[in-house]
Amino acid sequence: MSKISPDALLDAMKACAARTDAAIAAQLAPGRRPPRLVEAMQRAIFAGGKRMRPFLVQESARLFGIEGDGPLQVACALEAIHCYSLVHDDLPAMDDDDLRRGQPTLHKAYDEATAILAGDGLLTLAFGILTGPALKLPLSRKVKLVAALAGAAGIDGMVGGQMLDLTAEGRFDPKGRRPRPSVAGIRRIQQLKTGALIEFAVNSGAILAPRTSGDEKKALRLYGRNLGLAFQIRDDILDETGDAEAMGKALRKDAEAGKATFVGLLGLAGAEAELTRVSEEAKAALTQAFGPRAGMLNALIDFNAARET
Ligand code: IPE
Ligand code: IPE
Ligand code: MG
Ligand code: MG
Ligand code: MG
Repeated sequence: MSKISPDALLDAMKACAARTDAAIAAQLAPGRRPPRLVEAMQRAIFAGGKRMRPFLVQESARLFGIEGDGPLQVACALEAIHCYSLVHDDLPAMDDDDLRRGQPTLHKAYDEATAILAGDGLLTLAFGILTGPALKLPLSRKVKLVAALAGAAGIDGMVGGQMLDLTAEGRFDPKGRRPRPSVAGIRRIQQLKTGALIEFAVNSGAILAPRTSGDEKKALRLYGRNLGLAFQIRDDILDETGDAEAMGKALRKDAEAGKATFVGLLGLAGAEAELTRVSEEAKAALTQAFGPRAGMLNALIDFNAARET
């Protein structure tokens, strides 16, 4: 595997998304569960996301020759957390958005209480999946996955980053003052609110693999760290330049809300330069450790840098 064409990447992503969807559907069977809650959780998760994080789990595991149910269940758990993060991110108390993936946000389709509970349900479902019978792994390996996902999702990861993101808007300052963000400050917000879950996806391959070298783990960490940054930089650029219909969400909101982004601090050209820099760093790290096997994950870096959705 060396250079992967954009079409081959999209085909591989689609196949992974279909497998992930089927496995998540099995975890969200209605049974005796409150129907409104199950329906809302299904709506949150089956609304047509790109499923990039499941793909990262699959492909990072494949670097070590691991395929099948292990990566699939980890992918489901992670996607549940990602979808919960979007439901809560859209709430009136957070980014206050009406549209997500081209459809009304969950609190618009239902109500705020249902959206909050559906998010809670998805968050806890993730840990149920990692500890449940569908993931057949030695207990010690499951505990490693649980600890890594808890770290990436919580106060030291996504939730912590969301707090910093809102703090940077000045909304917790009694006078609404916004401190001028620094490059390092913005990078930290991106790395926590978005990067941490992406880094987990990439590092999970090494947790699933029985044997990995220090160099391989280090390369995955560098790749994940830089893709995490690249992904949020592209999202911030698209907030300014993207097509709202294609993106399926309201755009041109970050500047007015006072979000701390590279687009705001460095302008579009500066943000593009930063996107190119971190994208190249991600590819170089992976190629050095994995050679031609890095082809698929490196194609994803190019996909992100050019994506319009
Ligand atoms: C959107 O994530 C939120 C960010 C972290 C920027 P995605 O762009 O991966 O959302 P979906 O899952 O494809 O809708
Ligand atoms: C999302 O960042 C980060 C999350 C943890 C969900 P944004 O707030 O920029 O994501 P969008 O633009 O609403 O998708
Ligand atoms: Mg947000
Ligand atoms: Mg948002
Ligand atoms: Mg955004």
